[in-house]
Amino acid sequence: MPRRIRHRYSAKSADKYELYQKAVQSPETDIALIRRIFRCERGREPRHLREDFCGTALISSHWVRRHRENTAEGFDLDPQPLAWGLKHNCEDLDLTRLTLHELDVRAFGLRRPDVRIALNFSYWVFHERPTLLAYFRATRRSLAKDGLFLIDLYGGLDAPAELEERRRCGGFTYVWDQHRYWPGTAEYTCFIRFEFPDGSELEAFRYDWRLWTLCELRDLLVEAGFAKVERYFEGAGDKGEGDGIFRRGMRGENCAGWLAYLAAWA
Ligand SMILES: C[S@@+](CC[C@H](N)C(=O)[O-])C[C@H]1O[C@@H](n2cnc3c(N)ncnc32)[C@H](O)[C@@H]1O
Repeated sequence: MPRRIRHRYSAKSADKYELYQKAVQSPETDIALIRRIFRCERGREPRHLREDFCGTALISSHWVRRHRENTAEGFDLDPQPLAWGLKHNCEDLDLTRLTLHELDVRAFGLRRPDVRIALNFSYWVFHERPTLLAYFRATRRSLAKDGLFLIDLYGGLDAPAELEERRRCGGFTYVWDQHRYWPGTAEYTCFIRFEFPDGSELEAFRYDWRLWTLCELRDLLVEAGFAKVERYFEGAGDKGEGDGIFRRGMRGENCAGWLAYLAAWA
């Protein structure tokens, strides 16, 4: 008799934060990159991290867990992912070393961070140049004197294209839907959906962003007063896909899709 295959996930039972973390986030990879960039430049370990747009604070929780001197602050406007993160990511943690703020990322923190991050393109919520510049300026002023602000971005010919990208994850399919792009304003609406083996689907997240370009962002960071802004591009693997290794100072490749980081030093 054939065994009945039990699928764990369906739209009814799925937890969108759990699936998001599984499909999109790699906190240990992010932390390894942060430490490598910081130590190469400053010759010391960064200890205090500020995670802007932290959602479920996955990176902050890993940061605090990895060393007893590490501390972190996370900022997010939405109480729902923060509460989920406290329950699922932070239960075993010493909460004197991790503070989650239900606040706008432009709010002040408790301490000057060695490293402040805004990852997964979240700062693209700021559409207007003066607004993004004000955020970058406030960020520079908030940093430790040798501090680092790290942001990620993507681009390439596919970036403004209206397309869907699917990736199988264990027990569900992650769908990145670049739904609309308006070239006159660079407004950019994207969705994350999850599809399940029983045919159900969950529209989990919507993003109303502006698609910023690398040079616009570099210029804004310089204008915001950062002393040095460096590019880190991912190298190419054998089949032309990204190799997961980010190298400093490259000019990038004019390919369909690229991923990069900008490291801005106080
Ligand atoms: C794409 S999620 C990022 C989740 C996670 N940090 C990551 O890297 O995948 C974006 C988060 O930014 C938050 N957010 C949007 N605008 C914000 C603002 N102005 N201040 C603080 N949080 C904001 C949203 O509530 C959402 O949780």
